[in-house]
Amino acid sequence: MQQVAKRNVIVGQSGGPTAAINSSLAGVYRTAIDRGYKKVYGMLHGVQGLIEGRYIDLSEHITSALDSELLKRTPASYLGSCRYKLPEIFQDKELYEKIFKILEDLEIDCFIYIGGNDSMDTIKKLSDYAMLTGSDIRFVGCPKTIDNDLALTDHTPGYGSAAKYIGTSVKEVIRDGLSMRNAKGLVTVIEIMGRNAGWLTGASVLAKGEDCDGPDAIYLPELDFDVDAFVEKCRNLLKTKNSVVVCVSEGIHTADGKYVMELGENAEFVDAFGHKQLTGTARVLCNILSSELGCKARAIEFSTLQRAASHCASRIDINEAFEVGGAAMKAADEGDSGKMVVFVRTSSDPYAAETEVKDVHKIANDERLVPREWVTEDGSYVTPEFRSYVDPLIQGDVSPVMVDGIPRHLYKPGYQELLEQS
Ligand code: F6P
Repeated sequence: MQQVAKRNVIVGQSGGPTAAINSSLAGVYRTAIDRGYKKVYGMLHGVQGLIEGRYIDLSEHITSALDSELLKRTPASYLGSCRYKLPEIFQDKELYEKIFKILEDLEIDCFIYIGGNDSMDTIKKLSDYAMLTGSDIRFVGCPKTIDNDLALTDHTPGYGSAAKYIGTSVKEVIRDGLSMRNAKGLVTVIEIMGRNAGWLTGASVLAKGEDCDGPDAIYLPELDFDVDAFVEKCRNLLKTKNSVVVCVSEGIHTADGKYVMELGENAEFVDAFGHKQLTGTARVLCNILSSELGCKARAIEFSTLQRAASHCASRIDINEAFEVGGAAMKAADEGDSGKMVVFVRTSSDPYAAETEVKDVHKIANDERLVPREWVTEDGSYVTPEFRSYVDPLIQGDVSPVMVDGIPRHLYKPGYQELLEQS
């Protein structure tokens, strides 16, 4: 049988960045080259940039083994990201024709998209269009999100490193609080990302160990948040402790569905997928605590830090991110389309996981939440099962390449300027 010559690959990154997303990019690149593809293009700012004809040739960026190692240790999306929702095919056929024309002009065989649930919507729509029109281009999703909320996978690359940062930083905040004396006590409220899923907030339990009691309370967005019960809990804790540390998800909401952050005065920003920007929850709660209890209250928002902290990355996470990039490329090379790579945990102790591919239609736009039984009855902490789940994902370290005492990232002269052009 005559072999059809392999042409090119294009890869993009989409949604919120992580500390491991570039390791997946390195994995896609390595496997594409090993499997005999001629060129690997990178979309600048995801599919949104592709539509504008913006892409790079990755071989000009990954020119050595050191570049590949630096890329794996570089946080944020090296190719630039987007939160762009493709219209339904019937709404704008011309747009799909335009995208496919760009892909054909670049002689693309495989399109790999590294992203979360919203980004998988792009893989779903493009693979549907390819099917409708008989195009041979294969579209495969590579999972990533610190939120860990993708359906059908045990976990997502990016989560382990963010969880490790959260556990580490919460522990440091607890230690800091122990060293101070505050006349009326101090409550520190730490706000953690994750939208409507509490995987990241639950990871604050990692602070707990022989040398640290861990946070005093943990509130996930899966359950309704009762502001009065929270104030009472803090009042009681302050009777025996001078410093109280509480971790809350940015997405906690009251029983009527209102985000706690909306109880304050926040300007509203909504993205293309209809997600409100969640910020200010800790500040709102601190204002309530100071006025109700008269104590000192400090709000800490981990914000961008928790997804950019590559200096505190988990080795398991960085290695798995690389592996999943390779698995997505392999799947596309072997003919899969409209699929996403998932992790199946085959053993927890010792930890082992394998990759499989699943239908992206069952994953896109869905949210996998923390099971109710992994939260305590009163809703103010996570159970030992949660801890056993997250523990293996944060193991091992990745030493940054230090230059002048600061971690070095992959850098190519002129590239940042190109990326910034919008
Ligand atoms: O998608 C992951 C995430 O980190 C969420 O946890 C968070 O709500 C959101 O991104 C923030 O995104 P942005 O940086 O676009 O405001």
